[in-house]
Amino acid sequence: MRKHTYALGGAGLLLSVSMLAIPAQELTGELPDPPEFAAQSEPNFVSVGDILEFKALPEYHEPDWVTSKYVDEGKLPPVAERLPKEPLVYKTANMPDGVGVYGDTMRHVIGGRPEGWNYIGGQSQGWGGIDIGLSECLTRTGPLFQVKADELEPLPNLAKSWEWSEDGHELTMHLIEGAKWSDGDPFDAEDVMFYWNDNVLDSNVSPLNGATPETFGEGTTLEQVDPYTIKWTFKEAFPKQYLYAMAYGTFCPGPSHILKPEHPKYSDNTYEQYKNAFPPEYMNMPVMGAWVPVEYRPDDIIVMRRNPYYWKVDEEGNQLPYLNEMHYRLSTWADRDVQAVAGSGDFSNLEQAESYVESLRRSAEDSAPARLQFGARTIGYALRMNLSGNGWGDPDEREQAVRELNRNLDFRKAVTIAVDRQRLGESLVRGPFTAIYPGGLYAGTAFYDKASTVYYPFNLDAAKSLLDGLDLKDTDGNGIRNFPEGTAGGADVEITLLANTDYGTDTNLAEGVIAMMEPLGIRVIANFQSGTARDDMSQAGQFDWSVERQGSEMVSVVQNTATLAPTGPRTSYFHRAGTDGTVDLLPFEQELVDVVNKFIATSDNAERVELMKQYQKIYTENVYSVGLTQYPGALIINKRFANVPAGTPIFMFNWAEDSVMRERLYVPEDKQGNYELFPETLPGEPGGEGPA
Ligand code: GLA
Repeated sequence: MRKHTYALGGAGLLLSVSMLAIPAQELTGELPDPPEFAAQSEPNFVSVGDILEFKALPEYHEPDWVTSKYVDEGKLPPVAERLPKEPLVYKTANMPDGVGVYGDTMRHVIGGRPEGWNYIGGQSQGWGGIDIGLSECLTRTGPLFQVKADELEPLPNLAKSWEWSEDGHELTMHLIEGAKWSDGDPFDAEDVMFYWNDNVLDSNVSPLNGATPETFGEGTTLEQVDPYTIKWTFKEAFPKQYLYAMAYGTFCPGPSHILKPEHPKYSDNTYEQYKNAFPPEYMNMPVMGAWVPVEYRPDDIIVMRRNPYYWKVDEEGNQLPYLNEMHYRLSTWADRDVQAVAGSGDFSNLEQAESYVESLRRSAEDSAPARLQFGARTIGYALRMNLSGNGWGDPDEREQAVRELNRNLDFRKAVTIAVDRQRLGESLVRGPFTAIYPGGLYAGTAFYDKASTVYYPFNLDAAKSLLDGLDLKDTDGNGIRNFPEGTAGGADVEITLLANTDYGTDTNLAEGVIAMMEPLGIRVIANFQSGTARDDMSQAGQFDWSVERQGSEMVSVVQNTATLAPTGPRTSYFHRAGTDGTVDLLPFEQELVDVVNKFIATSDNAERVELMKQYQKIYTENVYSVGLTQYPGALIINKRFANVPAGTPIFMFNWAEDSVMRERLYVPEDKQGNYELFPETLPGEPGGEGPA
């Protein structure tokens, strides 16, 4: 019966463009429930205080060889002197297999390549957990998947405690005292202030993952009170939400003693030179993380050795990490799955649905070297349209015409109903994995509300009518619609689609979208780029459309919250400020911004639930992004590792590399492999060679 409305076809020509607008309810439909798919293991829910505390212990230990080869030789101070006054102590009761033993290696495989070590200057290290392991942040969120929902608050980390002023506008944080960078230089408020003043606030620097001043609310200031105390001042009262933004990757300070001398404010360097001052060949970059890079062979491997100054211990006073070495094989993401399943790698986030069936089959065998455990559906892809109409990314005439279309609701509706999500999901993998994803928050996550989700089912005829109504007709009979006369010279409607070639799933989904736009009369042209190039183009606004795997904001909401809407000039991934510095928000985007800001400003849970219902409604009704598919991921870890927390999701508050707390993982002695490439050695001088 709905067909009837669109059977108008030629008769529509008699109607004016505006009369052709199709009432929204005609296009909406019942959203099918995702196929039943139970997570394979559940977390043991605990309080933050059950996981860790900060305190001095009567004695401390380290691997014997560190004592005999380094401390006894006078090359390193004793372990007690290398540790902070009160180290971070992991509680035994929360360690699934208890206190561990030293030794062995975790062999990662990654698909990215390191640009260099200046993480806060905006360089990627190639992902897959490298930067997560090198950078420690004021707070920590990955392990929160196991914290009771009503006690949810980020874990203390470099900030070991904090308190709010009575009026809630000031947050005083106490930094861990006496902790040191991996080269022995003290960590203190100077590192924090250098990160904030000269990297976050300096708009010439784009720290990775997009930390900007707005991430912490407009008008927010940060000052040093003393070497171990910092004070935030917010316009809002009690914006506890920002504690999440102080975790990975938006508040992880870098080593100021090495970085500052290269920063343009303190040197003759340009910003480009600052960013690139620590190329991948630069070894022993000082870190606060558990392992330090000591060897780099291009397109082959990055090796890291234990950080002798790491500031976390177990309850018996054993300095962490337990694992002496970390490998990052420089290969492909697909190879990461293959190697983890085969046992030549140790870890993978199984996230490319195309390889699920094969990986499952091989992991089911008793002799399989790795365990594979599926979690909830937290991997999701969307088609994002560049919504800037005022110059972000410097569009030419055609691009500007596309931006205008992107900003038109009927156009976005036409695109969304031209996507056959069922078919798209099945093209990746058959079975109960993929679910129809209409956009917005993911089904099955805490803030999702089905009743607030507007779903526009596949309806190609209606999509065509909508485009007719926009006066996009195929005037030259070549099968492609043309822009109206006077727009982009009445040319064919051609749209470029940015996608990441590092992942088969990204390009497969993008190919699917391209194919599905064809019967609609829109020519979508693939702009497929390597991960690094893609990220750069995306950050610079140089795209019409982009198919992307989305961030944790769509899963947890409380992480990266500011990116849920264009709350600031640079917070959104697909709508940033134009040439005049302002974001030309559409009316519904303004509504999204208001909702998100209210969410950030309140800690009242009932109110937050209500606000996210509004968010979901506004988002999906207006097709803020075109949802594509949503599916579960599986964590693959070699069976020899102990202390892997039950129910660790590959992606929730952060990636599994953070959530499993790698510094606490260990390999029982009888299972240890012979994988260390640089046994019984520690990192050397910054910039110097790796172990001989
Ligand atoms: C990449 C991988 C993810 C995860 C992250 C960690 O994005 O695809 O599975 O390992 O890196 O940053």
